[in-house]
Amino acid sequence: MSPNQPGQPPKLPIPGVKNLIAVGSGKGGVGKTTVAVNLAVGLAKLGYPTGLMDADVYGPNVPLMMGINRTPMAYGERIQPLDQYGVKLMSMGFLNPGDKPLVWRGPMLHSVIQQFLRGVDWGQLDYLVIDLPPGTGDVQLSLIQTAPVTGAIVVTTPSDVSLEDARKAIHMFNQVKVPVLGLVENMSWLKCPHCNEHIDVFSTGGGSRTAKEMGVNFLGELPLDPVVRIGGDTGRPVAMRGESDERAAAFFALAKRTVDRVAVESAAPAPQITIED
Ligand SMILES: Nc1ncnc2c1ncn2[C@@H]1O[C@H](COP(=O)(O)OP(=O)(O)OP(=O)(O)O)[C@@H](O)[C@H]1O
Ligand SMILES: [Mg+2]
Repeated sequence: MSPNQPGQPPKLPIPGVKNLIAVGSGKGGVGKTTVAVNLAVGLAKLGYPTGLMDADVYGPNVPLMMGINRTPMAYGERIQPLDQYGVKLMSMGFLNPGDKPLVWRGPMLHSVIQQFLRGVDWGQLDYLVIDLPPGTGDVQLSLIQTAPVTGAIVVTTPSDVSLEDARKAIHMFNQVKVPVLGLVENMSWLKCPHCNEHIDVFSTGGGSRTAKEMGVNFLGELPLDPVVRIGGDTGRPVAMRGESDERAAAFFALAKRTVDRVAVESAAPAPQITIED
């Protein structure tokens, strides 16, 4: 778990939730939500009680990608998460259906994130996956400063612009002492449907190279695959196909590596923070 920071409120655990995994990136549109959704479905299919919290308050895509949009019930003060494909879900999209954008400022964002973390009946979960909005802004900081995040997964494509922003995201997590579970490279290659050749649409090898340079683990490559996009657009994530399906296999490999990395991080002593005068 990431340690408490001096001058910040203590990071209280979320009762019943063993591990919080934040999925972030510096750059938008690199596949965070796709990774978060398929990681959550993959973990659930592997038998781990799992939840998925959509922290992209302004642009929530989890309802569409998980194929569900209903207003959650509340019992007393407690919001009941929706359940889809064995994953417990909470998203701003369930509370603000339709295309109308929200115009909120920092303090309101902060309270929504707190509500989602602590006002939702998550029950007993091994993993709560958190889909972050792009960048290194208010939501990320609010979450990281108050939630006991076990570790973060940083998503990038192999292109230089995406890698540059991934480095910024890794720096942000390092600065706030959230362990980086690893870097995952999305859209790594496209398999030609005619000749099976791998086409490096966004370049190649950048993810593993950057992970090495930054001293973080490399969690693997995910192919650029129309089936992944269709799964997102139709609300049936590709991981629903199961571990033995060739098109879903990379996401299950990611889920298993994540489980291993979380186990290592949970066993590691929390880093010491020195308080400077
Ligand atoms: N491996 C992939 N193969 C094919 N399409 C993909 C893949 N990963 C993501 N996509 C598609 O790319 C688009 C952007 O993905 P996604 O919404 O997951 O990115 P994001 O990083 O969450 O974006 P944002 O920063 O806006 O939150 C979506 O249409 C998604 O279906
Ligand atoms: Mg997203």
